[in-house]
This record gives sequence, structure tokens and C-alpha cells, in this order.
Amino acid sequence: MSATTLTRSQLASRHRADALDARIEQDPAAFRMLSGDRPTGALHVGHYFGSLHNRVRLQDAGIDLFVVIADYQAMTDRVVPPDLPDLVAGLVADYLAIGIDPRRSTIFAHSQIAALNQLLLPFLGLVSVAEIGRNPTVKDEISAAGLATVSGLMFTYPVHQAADILFCHANLVPVGLDQLPHLEITRTVARRFNERYSPGRPYFREPEALLSAAPLLLGTDGQKMSKSRNNSIPLRASADETARLLGKAKTDAEKVISFEPQRRPEVANLLSLTALCRGSTPEEVADEIGNRGAAALKAAAIDAVNERFAEVRARRAELAADPGYLRTVLAAGNERATAIADDTLRAVRELMNQRY
Ligand code: TRP
Repeated sequence: MSATTLTRSQLASRHRADALDARIEQDPAAFRMLSGDRPTGALHVGHYFGSLHNRVRLQDAGIDLFVVIADYQAMTDRVVPPDLPDLVAGLVADYLAIGIDPRRSTIFAHSQIAALNQLLLPFLGLVSVAEIGRNPTVKDEISAAGLATVSGLMFTYPVHQAADILFCHANLVPVGLDQLPHLEITRTVARRFNERYSPGRPYFREPEALLSAAPLLLGTDGQKMSKSRNNSIPLRASADETARLLGKAKTDAEKVISFEPQRRPEVANLLSLTALCRGSTPEEVADEIGNRGAAALKAAAIDAVNERFAEVRARRAELAADPGYLRTVLAAGNERATAIADDTLRAVRELMNQRY
């Protein structure tokens, strides 16, 4: 999916997101926000501009934020990595380094929240196999992973994601474009649950996507930037690593640098990345580089990323040196999420007439 070819439903979501921003500013307390990531590797600049910066921005605007570490989802397309605990701690460190504040926000791992996982069962009863099978993001992931067989966990993880969101009654989900199909499933689950089990008095809210205004960033190979595709710039990369990674980014041989996302997607991507880091526009960056070609563009991108993330990287290094603290933060988040999930499951059982 390229940054410039939005489908109609994506465009509609983006318009909705603009209107949403205005409502958030007026009444932040009306919102609870949930978003999250798989513990499959270091968070990267694509995550940052696609979703993470929105989480921090809205947390700081006064919205209650929940962040799920999706450790079951991490097992949809791979075996359990032996270093899973380190990957989870690494995510917590990334979150804190970018400014998620554990005193105001709740960071938890979904495997630790028993009642959240149990919600998957009633939710699976609300969607058809055909609906699940149409999910384009799941299809992409299956083909990207080159899986010979597709597990039930892989096939149904968008429904599990509905449990991640609905257990805490989140109504706002800051995500990248690729997550919109999952959010649609969550909305469907909420709506059908209400229709079937709580008519006239909706129990679940239908959450809304909050899309970032930033374009979807591509990886250094021109494909979707992804932790598992080895084409990303990790937030925590050193300045030298950043230089090495961006140094090998795909570009083209035209000397004059121009912002033409359709014709020159890789060049446009480096321009977007540089502009996002600097808070300027890709066109401005292109003008500045002029006819100095891809080498000058890469040098500008490297400087921009290194400057933008210097402070985050320093903070992250400090946090990584204190694993005990990271564990405490996660334990507190798990405890808070568990209390909420227990309440939700109790209410769901009541509504489903499971009173024995
Ligand atoms: N599917 C998301 C990803 O691959 C991670 C995720 C899990 C998520 N549960 C979520 C995102 C709930 C938003 C809301 O990155």
C-alpha cells in the first residue's frame, strides 16, 4: 500500500480522524485510547510517526492511554523466541523513552490478562469465517511470512485484537493504515454484541481509528517498513547504525531530487522521513537538495533522524540499564488491566445469561 493511494474507506477514516481531533481537544476525558505493538523487535521510525507520537501527544492532552504488548500476536507467524522476555522489556523501554508516562498510562502484556483472553470466545461467535478470511492485512502477513499453513491463531488474531480494545472500553485507537481492517472487525464485534446481548442499552462502544497525518513510511528496501522484514530504522539505533541503514536505502539514479511519490517512491520516502523528523515538508527538503542526488538526500535523512531521536535514544539507554524498573512498570500495568478485564468479563457473562 503506498502512501498516496488511499482507498475510499481509508480517506473516510482520515476525514473522521480530523473531526475527531477537534472533539479530543474539547473534551479529552470523553476518550480512552488503546494501542499496542507486537514484541518482535525494536520499535522503528515508521511506528513512531504512524502511531507512537499520537499516543504521547494525546496522553499529554489528558486522555487515558492503554498500551498493549501483543505477545500472543507475536506468535502468529513465528515460534516463540527464546528472548521473548527481553523483547517485552525492550518495548517497555521504548515506550517510556518516547514519553509514555507510567503514572498516567497503563502498559500491559495481553497474555497476562486472563479475562481479556476469555473475551475472545464470545467475540469469535459474532463474526463469520468468511469475514475473518477477507482481512487484507492478515492476507499480506501470511504471504510476507511465506507460511505453508495458517494457524487458527493467525487467522483469528484480529478478533483477539477486538478483545484488546474492548476489554477496557477504549473508544480511540491510534494506528497506521494497515490496522484499519482490524479496527473494522472490532467495531463489528462491538455492534453485534450490543445488538445480540444488550439491545437498547449498548454495552461496548464502537472505537474509532485515529490515523496519523504522516504518510506510511517505507522500509529501506522500498517495501512496508516492518520489524520482521529487516528494513527498518529502529528508534534506538545508534547514530552510526542509522547511517549504515539509511546508507543502503534504495533510491534511483536521477540527480535532481523531487518529491514524486508515485514515480519515485523510494526517494519520496526519504524526503518524507527527513521532513517528519525536521517538522518541514518533503517539497522543502527536495528543494534544498536540488541536483545533489541520492547521496546528499541520504546524508540529510541520516542527520535528521539522528537529531530528532538523540534525546529518546539517550533516555532509552538509561532505562535499559534498569530492568528491575521496567518489570515494575509492566507488573503495575498488568494489575490495572486485570482489574478492568475482570469487571468486563463479569458484565459480559451477565449479559450473555451465563449466571449459574
Ligand atoms: N496488530 C498490531 C500490530 O501488528 C498490534 C496490536 C495488537 C494492536 N493489539 C492491538 C494495535 C490493539 C492497536 C490496538 O502492530
